[in-house]
Amino acid sequence: MDISKEIEKRQVEIESVINNYMPKEEGLQKTIFSGMNYSINAGGKRIRPMLMQETYKLFSGSGRIIEPFMASLEMIHTYSLVHDDMPCVDNDDMRRGKPTTHVAYGETMALFVGDGLLNLAFETIASGMDYIDVNNPSEVMAYKKASQYISKCAGSFGMLAGQVVDKESEDKKNISLDTIMYLYDKKTAELLKAAMVVGAILANASDKEIDIIERVAYNTGIAFQIQDDILDITSSEEELGKPIGSDERNNKSTYVAYKGLEESEKEVKRLTREALSLLSQLNKKNEFLEKLLEYMIHRTK
Ligand code: IPE
Ligand code: IPE
Ligand code: MG
Ligand code: MG
Ligand code: MG
Repeated sequence: MDISKEIEKRQVEIESVINNYMPKEEGLQKTIFSGMNYSINAGGKRIRPMLMQETYKLFSGSGRIIEPFMASLEMIHTYSLVHDDMPCVDNDDMRRGKPTTHVAYGETMALFVGDGLLNLAFETIASGMDYIDVNNPSEVMAYKKASQYISKCAGSFGMLAGQVVDKESEDKKNISLDTIMYLYDKKTAELLKAAMVVGAILANASDKEIDIIERVAYNTGIAFQIQDDILDITSSEEELGKPIGSDERNNKSTYVAYKGLEESEKEVKRLTREALSLLSQLNKKNEFLEKLLEYMIHRTK
C-alpha cells in the first residue's frame, strides 16, 4: 500500500464532505463566510476526520451519519487554529501555508470566523438528525452519545481546558511534567479522542471497544503533540506551512523543552507502539488505519 497516495485520496474525499456543509459567500455578512471558507480550505492534513472515518470502518460502520460528524470535527479543529494563531494567543502569521486568518481578515473578523466555525460545527451535527431513523432506538442512542462526546471534547472540559493551561504556563520555569501531560491530553488528545471514539460510537462499538479506542486515541494524541513540538524546532516554515520557533518565542512549556529532542522522538515511537498494541486487542483489521498511525510518527508536517 502506498500510504501517501492513500492519504491523499482520502483528503480529497474528506474535503468534499466538509465543503457540503460550508456556507455560500453571499448576504450582507458574507465576509464571515469568506473567512470561514478561507481557513477551512487553506489546506490541512484532515487527520481528525480521517481517523474518525477509518475507526467507523474498523467497526464496519456504513452510512452517511459519519459525514456531518467528520465535517464538524474539522470545523472545530480549524476554529481552534484560527484563535490559537491570534496575537493574544500564539501570535503566528502563517497557517497551512497561507497568511493566518487574522492577517488576511483582521483580528475582529478572525474572532468572528472562529466563532462562526464553532457554531457551524454544531449546526452541522444537528443537521445529522436527517441521516438517522428516529424510530430506531440504537441509531438514536448512538447519535446522542456521539453528540455528547464531541461536545465535551471541544469545550472547557476538553480542548479549551488545554489551551487555558498552555497559555497560563507560558513564561513559567517550573511547570511539572504532569501539567505538561495534562495540557497535551486536553489541547490535542481530546480532539483525537473525539475523532476515534465518535467513529466507534456511530458504528455501534461496544463499551469495552470504545474504552480501548479512547486509549488508542489518547496515545496517538500525545504522540501527535510531541511530534508537533519536535517539528516546531526541526522543520521549516516552508515544509510545515506555519512558522517554526513559535514555542520558544512564546516560552512554552513543551515536552521537548523538558526532555530534549532525542527522548521526545523515542516517546513518540513508544506511544505509537502502545496505540497499535491496544488497537490489536480489538481483533479487527483496518490496514490503512495502522499504517496511518505509523506514518504519523515520521510525519514532517
Ligand atoms: C495542529 O494540528 C494543531 C495541533 C494540535 C498540533 P494539525 O497538525 O492537524 O494541523 P492541520 O489541520 O494539518 O493544519
Ligand atoms: C495547538 O497547539 C493546540 C490547539 C488546540 C490549537 P499548538 O499551538 O502547538 O499548535 P500549532 O503548533 O500552533 O499548530
Ligand atoms: Mg497554541
Ligand atoms: Mg500555536
Ligand atoms: Mg505547535
